[in-house]
Amino acid sequence: MCSIIGYYGNEMAAPIIVKGLKRMEYRGYDSVGVATESNGQIVLKKGIGKVEEVNSKIQLDVLPGKIGIGHTRWATHGKVTEVNAHPHYSTSGKIAIVHNGIIENFEVLKIELEKEGYIFKSETDSEIIANLLQKNYEVLKDVKNTIIKTVAELKGHYAFVAMFENGQLAAARFHEPLIVGIGKNSYFLSSDVLGFIEQTDNAIYIENGNFVIIDKSKLEILDFNGENVKQEITKVSKEFADAYKGDYAHFTLKEISEQVDTIFKAGESTKDAIKNTANQIKNSKNIYITGSGTSYNAALIAKHILGKYAKIKVDTVISSELQFSSDLIELNSTLIAISQSGESADVLDAVSIAKKVNCKVISIVNSLTSSLARESDIIIGMNCGPEIGVAATKSFTSQIMIIYKITEELAKETFEIKYKEISESISKILENHDQIRHIAKEIKKISDIYVLGRGIHYPIAIESALKLKELTYIHAEGIPGGELKHGPLALMDSNVFVIIINPNDTTYSDTLTSAREIKARGAKIIGISDKKSDIYDYWIEIPKSNEISYPILETIPIQLLSYYAALEKDTDPDYPRNLAKSVTVK
Ligand code: AGP
Ligand code: GLU
Repeated sequence: MCSIIGYYGNEMAAPIIVKGLKRMEYRGYDSVGVATESNGQIVLKKGIGKVEEVNSKIQLDVLPGKIGIGHTRWATHGKVTEVNAHPHYSTSGKIAIVHNGIIENFEVLKIELEKEGYIFKSETDSEIIANLLQKNYEVLKDVKNTIIKTVAELKGHYAFVAMFENGQLAAARFHEPLIVGIGKNSYFLSSDVLGFIEQTDNAIYIENGNFVIIDKSKLEILDFNGENVKQEITKVSKEFADAYKGDYAHFTLKEISEQVDTIFKAGESTKDAIKNTANQIKNSKNIYITGSGTSYNAALIAKHILGKYAKIKVDTVISSELQFSSDLIELNSTLIAISQSGESADVLDAVSIAKKVNCKVISIVNSLTSSLARESDIIIGMNCGPEIGVAATKSFTSQIMIIYKITEELAKETFEIKYKEISESISKILENHDQIRHIAKEIKKISDIYVLGRGIHYPIAIESALKLKELTYIHAEGIPGGELKHGPLALMDSNVFVIIINPNDTTYSDTLTSAREIKARGAKIIGISDKKSDIYDYWIEIPKSNEISYPILETIPIQLLSYYAALEKDTDPDYPRNLAKSVTVK
């Protein structure tokens, strides 16, 4: 979940690396470091905090040399400290590495290496790579054979870049992303194209189980047995370069605002994919939908909509749970995997379990070059542009729109998406900043928020609670309206806020009754509805609509509320503490 980067070229490496790290910071942001090679020596600087912060304190970008590596960390092994930050030197200081992932057998290897005199300074699993490389290099005296031997000894999930004191760079990929950027007289190694997109749009997506050596401006790609591998250069969509905040204060606000347009684009980038998906669904006996976090909440919407309008029964499975119920996946079924990044380890795991029983895999994914896309039989692109804010916003509504498009294809007579109306309604809600900001001030000091919804609005309640948790650090819980009296009512008192998702549809009067029961216990009520009621202490109005459009319209004010409450609490809405955008570890 961290980002790794390497540069080999004619320009000073450190400023290029720092720039690339800033763009990839969404992947992890607790600490940062850069190492460069200069005059046959490796120099290194690292510190705790975000790239900008650390760079202004210790000037990572003035390190000398034209070859270098860099890292932003999301700690898995060892606390967030300067020592644990990457890069890590080997004991001799002649090799430095950056690593993304987990080395599962690091403890065993560490004991062995310590006995042989190797020194470990950090608590990380990653440092083992540096010392193992040193040990193997001292015997084999050649980078290629050193990498082959080292990867054979490592267990786990990893992508790493190693820099040798003679200026050679090597990088290996095993279940974590690794991309080579090919510039004019330069090479980049990166976890994401965002790490080099400003410099080049020529990329090679390194396959799993392969490694790269860059030496004297020559690039070699090999598999873990040392056989040369031919890989095509892909032109990366320039649209990825558009990862700037522009006039917006934060990526999250920009991405919330973009939904006026992104709902039109969902699924557009991948021709015939919706039709092919509908056919696959029609011809499949069992359909499962999987995802993590927000993407799983979209799966819950899919279950409701496909069931009601297309009369198609689907089962939803949280990706990280699938391994514990894998027996339930029937042979020759269809698995729809939803993922913004296409790199969530849990989702990829679910896909590989389903593939073992011969399932066809359909992915709903934003990154068309991601590992998930490459594992899929049918790919539907969200096409919403890069989402940098750690909290998923526009990708969620794009996922819903794609589900709607599939449903429309399957149930043409009964299902109609009113794109223009939805987009105009989003614009209207977005005009409501001031009122939502005012409510955000009110919830700032609260420690518990509950979100109630019935039917299709229940997944929206769960998604809302997730947004509030991530952005405001306030405890939040989504509750199906009818369940209130079966337990949660015990929690209602004057210290809590309850958000009632209450559009004027078939769920309206039951949900209003729940609101009354809550109000009677003294809790404050925020009503999200197209119909005013005196029960609400605060009413956030959404335009009148229908069951298909409401879920999208209800989502927008809660995204805004969570964003503004984060500002009120003085937390960073783009980079919530302890989280990372792509969760590539299990
Ligand atoms: C959403 O706000 C979260 N950041 C998180 O739950 C996210 O949706 C989840 O990690 C799945 O990511 P993916 O869609 O990239 O697979
Ligand atoms: N396991 C390494 C660490 O804790 C790398 C973590 C990551 O991939 O973010 O430092």
